[in-house]
Formats: sequence, structure tokens, C-alpha cells
Amino acid sequence: QSKRTRLIAGNWKMNNDVPAAKELAEALVEQVPASDAVEVVICPPTIDLACTSHKIAGSAIKLGAQNVYWEAKGAYTGETSCDMLKSVDATYCIIGHSERRDYFHETDEDINKKAKALMAAGITPISCCGESLEVREAGKHVEFVVDQIKKDTEGLEITDPSKYVVAYEPIWAIGTGKTATAADAQEVCGAIRATLVEVFGQETADGIRILYGGSAKPENIAGFLAEEDVDGALVGGASLVAESFAAMVEKA
Ligand code: G3P
Repeated sequence: QSKRTRLIAGNWKMNNDVPAAKELAEALVEQVPASDAVEVVICPPTIDLACTSHKIAGSAIKLGAQNVYWEAKGAYTGETSCDMLKSVDATYCIIGHSERRDYFHETDEDINKKAKALMAAGITPISCCGESLEVREAGKHVEFVVDQIKKDTEGLEITDPSKYVVAYEPIWAIGTGKTATAADAQEVCGAIRATLVEVFGQETADGIRILYGGSAKPENIAGFLAEEDVDGALVGGASLVAESFAAMVEKA
């Protein structure tokens, strides 16, 4: 892990209107410890990006979005472009979250296009993957995630591996309080690392951060980070409480 700077990212999901976003951002700036050893990113809803950006400006906290569209501009009602994200100083963007794959029918092909557009714009994708309980119970979770990674990285050119992040989120652990064990996470994150070696070569793969997501919280984060191929966390519920998110950064 020594080659990779740890990353703790908070996915606010569809939570916090503008006043609440300002309040949470202020609390996070106060409570999240600054450290060269850990990168911290918060990903508010699109409506909150501008006000949150102002609140965290000058702090160690970086800004990310939860989604993006790959076209530069035009008739794509409701969508947000890379340049719009750059205009609010977002330097990260979550793509391919299981909730978007499930509810909004995003495909690996869509996610691959988003990754290419983001990287061309200089924004770091946090590209999500992960299996359902059904796939896990069938024992097919490793091959399922490996297939996602191969499709999501198709044709990507990575010059700086710190600018492409993968997040492994077993769907059955998201928002359920049912967390994967650290061993579960390492089994799949190790397979993701091996696949990244296959696709990009050892040196680049060694520099790509792989995050765990799915009911991560202060009580369990240390166990995940002790695993060789787990370089941080993508945090949902616990990122909405400043004290919890700060505690997770503290332990990273
Ligand atoms: O993207 C992170 C999210 O899916 C995890 O949610 O609430 O289980 O931490 P949660």
C-alpha cells in the first residue's frame, strides 16, 4: 500500500439541500484533520456543488460529484458536463454507482464513456463495481467484478495512476449495516488489482487506489485498511455525520 496515498471519499447520495450542505461542509472543514497521508473528498448532490465548493475552498477537503454525462454540452436535459464540474472545482467524480446502474440503467459501456470524458477533462473518476447478494451466494462474485473492471477500463489510457480510482461496493453491504469482512473485501480487491495489472501493467496498477464501500464506518475502517489491496473507503451514511466522517479520516 505504501505506493498509494489513502483516500476517504464521502458519497452524500441524495441528501442535504443547500442550507444543510453548507452546514455539513462547515462542520467537516472544522473537524476533518488535514494530513498528507490521506486524501479526503466529499461528493454532494449536484445542486450543492457550488456552495460546498466555496465552503471547503482553502481546506484539505477536495470536491467530487456523484455523476456526469460524457457529452461536452447540448440537448441532454437534466445532465451535467465535465466542464460544469470543473467550473465548481470538482476534481473527482463517482461513476457507475450500483444505485445508478440499478435505478437508472447505466451500463459498463456508459461508465467507460464517462471515465474517458472525465480523464480528458482532468477529473479523477471513482469508478464503482460490485456484485449483488445473488451473485455472491452463487460464488460468482470475483468473476462478475473482474468482468465489470475489464469493460469499465476498455481503451482507457492512464498516465498518472493516482488519477483513476476504483471503488468495490458489494451491493448487499450498501446501506444495510451488513458489512463485508475485511477478508471479503481483500478477496475481490486483490482480484481487481490483478485485473488492473493485466490491463495496464504492474507499475500503473500498483498506483491505482482501490476503495471499499458498503456500511464502512469508524468502527470497521481500520480492518479494511489493513488489507494489502484496500486503499481507502467510499462512505455513504457515515459521511453525512461530520463527527463520523472525521473519525474515519483520523483512523485512515
Ligand atoms: O457509495 C458509497 C455507498 O454506496 C455506501 O453506502 O451507507 O453503506 O456507507 P453506506
